[in-house]
Amino acid sequence: MSTFYLTTPIYYVNARPHLGHACTTIMADAMCRYRRLRGDRVYFLTGTDEHGERIAQVAAAAGKSPRAYADEIAAAYQETWRRLGITNDDFIRTTEPRHKKVVQEVLQRLYDAGEIYFGEYGGWYCYGCERFYTEKEIVDGKCPDHQTALTFIKEKNYFFRMSKYQTWLIKHLEDNPGFIQPDRYRNEVLGFLREPLQDLSISRPTSRLEWGIPLPFDDKYVTYVWFDALLNYYSAVSGGDEKTRGLWEHVEHLIGKDILKPHGVYWPTMLKAAGIPLYRRLNVHGYWSLGGSKMSKSVGNVVEAFQLTDKYGHDAFRYFLLREMNFGLDASFSEEALVDRLNADLANDLGNLASRASTLIAAGGPVAQVPALVEAADREIATAAAEARAAVERAMEEFAFQKALAGIWAFIGTVNRYVDASAPWALAKDPAKRPRLERVLATLADSLGFLGIVLDPFLPDAARKIREAIGAGGPLTLEAAVVGRLTSVPRVSKISGLFPRVDTKAPPGAHAPRPGEGAKGAGGKIAIGDFQKVELRVAEVLAAERVPKSKKLLKLSIRVGEETRTLVAGVAEHYEPAALVGRKVVIVANLEPATLMGVESNGMVLAASHEGTVSLLTLDKDVPSGSKVK
Ligand code: MSP
Repeated sequence: MSTFYLTTPIYYVNARPHLGHACTTIMADAMCRYRRLRGDRVYFLTGTDEHGERIAQVAAAAGKSPRAYADEIAAAYQETWRRLGITNDDFIRTTEPRHKKVVQEVLQRLYDAGEIYFGEYGGWYCYGCERFYTEKEIVDGKCPDHQTALTFIKEKNYFFRMSKYQTWLIKHLEDNPGFIQPDRYRNEVLGFLREPLQDLSISRPTSRLEWGIPLPFDDKYVTYVWFDALLNYYSAVSGGDEKTRGLWEHVEHLIGKDILKPHGVYWPTMLKAAGIPLYRRLNVHGYWSLGGSKMSKSVGNVVEAFQLTDKYGHDAFRYFLLREMNFGLDASFSEEALVDRLNADLANDLGNLASRASTLIAAGGPVAQVPALVEAADREIATAAAEARAAVERAMEEFAFQKALAGIWAFIGTVNRYVDASAPWALAKDPAKRPRLERVLATLADSLGFLGIVLDPFLPDAARKIREAIGAGGPLTLEAAVVGRLTSVPRVSKISGLFPRVDTKAPPGAHAPRPGEGAKGAGGKIAIGDFQKVELRVAEVLAAERVPKSKKLLKLSIRVGEETRTLVAGVAEHYEPAALVGRKVVIVANLEPATLMGVESNGMVLAASHEGTVSLLTLDKDVPSGSKVK
């Protein structure tokens, strides 16, 4: 039995939980449920990050004390996770005494060891990020994340000698390729480390900020919020009780890419300096965007999407988040895409299978002893199940939820075809075919049993309903997920309406960005420099096909100069794929990659739209693909 201790970021209490927070917590929950299924000792931690300037500011603006404000939002997080069926073992709040004690102990230890010194620093500070920006990071004099003006702050503070660990950290990352995954984020951290690493200011004077943990060696200062927050992962399991003993050595973190630097640079150097074993692995996922823009309260676009859990059910929401995002890459959220997935994968593929199989078994079973007449088609199901399980095991090693689900859906597809081909309803009409019917029903019951287990981490409610319908008792283990051993047909009750279809006529609310649409500006004019950031180019369409299960999306293979890339365009309702091949279009060439319905899109095709007519931008004279458009 191996031990697995997984953490989510502890979320700021300046705003209520939104889709982005739910995504990380759901991913962590799916992973922990999976590891429990494997029989591992699992500990799952989440919580809230409650100190710091920005919390003090929002509390003041709301006319509340920081503590009252933090209490309210921390409760909202706890309630949300409860409602979403999140199986965390603990919820840590950085305002708790158990945490404060550990932070102060570590600070004192570092101070005594000479790892912390008193000094002066002047620099450009972003209150939103609560950190200083180096000249290189600043874009047009503004915070690259918030696009707000930075403040020059010069003050005396305590500093952690982080610079001292630069060479060590580079070597550690080079020697341990799996320390940060996926690889692109390990490379990104190595990228940060190509610049000289500065020492880290780890305090804030109480004259400016009181809402924090006092430094144990100077009560005129409180601890910098990141130094305080990162230690939660350690403080939560340092109480010395039975429940948490021996966990630390197994800790893995799951975070979004926005907080890579604190987790990839500050945190390992802090641990190293404090003589605490390093974390096992840092797992980094990409970002969800909504209609092409970033989703975050502080950037000003509040996300309503979270309410979708109530509208479509927890499992459907959870499935969408896990299935649609390629781990490590960004993804685009839309209600339309969620409904497409719900109808195609859940209502159609899984829901129909559960309903058909359970109805057939309920009608033809139970059978105490099924004749051992196994045919090739039954063996194929057993093989497909073994392959699906292997795919899940492989994918979950690297948090690739989308691949795990694709593996399970390949199995569902195979079983659906098996039902069609073996036609049990026809077998039932002929008494001579009863032995074959019984074998088919046993295979179907077996398949439902298999799904009741392997779906558990991803669709816990649906998996439980399937298990209940087939009367699967006993402990839930991955080991038991094997098809081909069943010699009887159990008593099964019909599974109906596992995932009711949703009418797709004009779902209200958010929708995926379409060509020609994007983030709207602040309403004002933009500077030429802003426009020049957008790289528009001519591209030639080499191939086009529909994205499976999507009404709107086409997958295009395009040539941009020397380069060939894949791009997803929302024009399937307006253009036949074949009509696009060979055409030259205009694309935004420097968009971050995003995943739409499981396909990675690298760029965006431009089109004009008016009252339902969509018209692609093409050229009135021929120029080579790759030409710049300006
Ligand atoms: N308090 C810090 C983390 C301290 S951890 C020691 C913080 N909090 S936060 O509330 O801003 O949460 C950031 C995290 O929320 C991201 O790393 C990610 O896990 C999740 N997400 C928030 N918005 C997100 C998206 N739009 N998309 C995906 N995940 C996002 O940073």
